[in-house]
Amino acid sequence: MTSRHDRPTPSAFSWWRNAVVYQVYLRSFADGNADGIGDITGLRSRLEYLRDLGVDALWVNPWYVSPLNDGGYDVADYRQINPEFGTLDDAVALMAEANEMGLRVLADLVPNHTSSEHRWFQEALAGSPGSEARARYHFRPGRGVDGSGPPTNWTSVFGGSAWSRVPDGEWYLHLFDRTQPDLNWDNAEVRAEFRDILRFWLDLGAAGFRVDVAHGLAKDPTYPDLERAETPLTIVEDTAAHPFWDRPALHDVVREWREILDEYPGSVMVAEAWVADWNRLAAYLKPDEYHQVFNFHFLQSPWEATRIRESISVGFNAARAQGALPTWVLSNHDVVRHPTRYGLPQDLDARAWLLDGDRDLLDSDLGLKRARAAILLMLGLPGSAYLYQGEELGLPEVHDLPLDVLDDPVWEKSGHTLKGRDGSRVPIPWTRDGDSFGFGADGSWLPQPEGWGSFSHQAQAGIEGTTLELYRTALRIRRELRSDDESLEWLDLGPDVVGFRRGSGMLVMVNLGREPVEILEGEPLIFSDDVPDGLLPADTAIWIAGPPNSR
Ligand code: GLC
Ligand code: CA
Repeated sequence: MTSRHDRPTPSAFSWWRNAVVYQVYLRSFADGNADGIGDITGLRSRLEYLRDLGVDALWVNPWYVSPLNDGGYDVADYRQINPEFGTLDDAVALMAEANEMGLRVLADLVPNHTSSEHRWFQEALAGSPGSEARARYHFRPGRGVDGSGPPTNWTSVFGGSAWSRVPDGEWYLHLFDRTQPDLNWDNAEVRAEFRDILRFWLDLGAAGFRVDVAHGLAKDPTYPDLERAETPLTIVEDTAAHPFWDRPALHDVVREWREILDEYPGSVMVAEAWVADWNRLAAYLKPDEYHQVFNFHFLQSPWEATRIRESISVGFNAARAQGALPTWVLSNHDVVRHPTRYGLPQDLDARAWLLDGDRDLLDSDLGLKRARAAILLMLGLPGSAYLYQGEELGLPEVHDLPLDVLDDPVWEKSGHTLKGRDGSRVPIPWTRDGDSFGFGADGSWLPQPEGWGSFSHQAQAGIEGTTLELYRTALRIRRELRSDDESLEWLDLGPDVVGFRRGSGMLVMVNLGREPVEILEGEPLIFSDDVPDGLLPADTAIWIAGPPNSR
């Protein structure tokens, strides 16, 4: 019996609203068969670690058959596992085991493009201009007398032209690497195929999808030129009339997918949409579209109270207006890990710094201190939080990878102007010493730096004050306090302090200034670092149990 005064119980079907999702970059998580490459067997052997960490779900980066030109975001077969990662049976077993432990598994859906090794693209190459096989992609004649110029001036996210030419003279579109041809989402066969792929994984036990390049699916069918050239890996500020980013037509596709997900109660889709304008981003969260969209504004915000507060409130309000909740994320496989970002001057472009920036600018201790404060900030917020593997160990970006080991296509395609994203993808250290620090029994596909073992699980587990224990404790408290409360009440604690109260009464304070500040009354639940004298030092966060809000 429920009475008027009872709060609604959070439905099991909306588990995701406040969930903590752990991103597994499979290649670098744990290697089960001693070939230096992370795999499903390795992941299965570490599931208990993830359960004990206290997360609710895993998002596994693409594990499909792929030549791995872009770390698996170049899919050759959407229904098979890459042999380097295991078999389909392994994937099914993983999902079943994880589910039994209470961990849901999100697959990574890559709908914007296939690999050039996908059967469809091979058929397109064998086909002729105007053929049905080519209609599944964006094939166009070139410009100039002999068609030797690309059809438009569109640039690839990784650098260079977004068009490549095939032997018969036509050009095909690839917003990323040339081995990642963009699919034509106006094509009925493409749409049908992906409906089927969604069902395939949901039937096998996936709880849903992280959707790659969700803002790229629709292209302007008139293929106009860009007004301004775009530089690699940057986010376009204004997508209002962009020829390929964030076009309204993509929302039809999303609604089609959502209908399928609604047949699988409890399943969820989260959009990777690099769209700067929240008014536009909010459209992805309509009740018949995505359940979640990553809030990259928060991730991109420098360590500065005003900017952080703003990124939180804008994201929170925009999501709430759609009846959704925001998601929060500080790191992933595409960005410089946040302890390194926060350890550099905040007006510096960390990505550019990776290649040839002054190493003396990096203050690693400061970066880690801020990262620890930032995680209490993030996990204190209403909504769901995405963690990137290794951040619970405080892993920094590996900024000194030798150039000859770089694997990310960004390095080549940017004409050696950007080092790329490999520094965030270095295999995880599990033990203090030993071959590849416990990642596997025979090396690791990217070299791990000296001293990597000091960050390992073994070096931190059970030891008070470590970053791993900070995460565990914070996740435990977050679970214990979890309620259906989705409110956020800002506290005015001065310009340099980010402070808010949750409906449970929990107070969160983060000091981004230089001077210590007075701590609010209540029982301290957790600190990101020592608090020597009742004052909250710079770059430190605290959770405090206050009286529950009266509502
Ligand atoms: C997404 C992925 C990134 C990949 C790109 C192309 O942004 O997160 O790793 O390179 O899409 O698929
Ligand atoms: Ca392996």
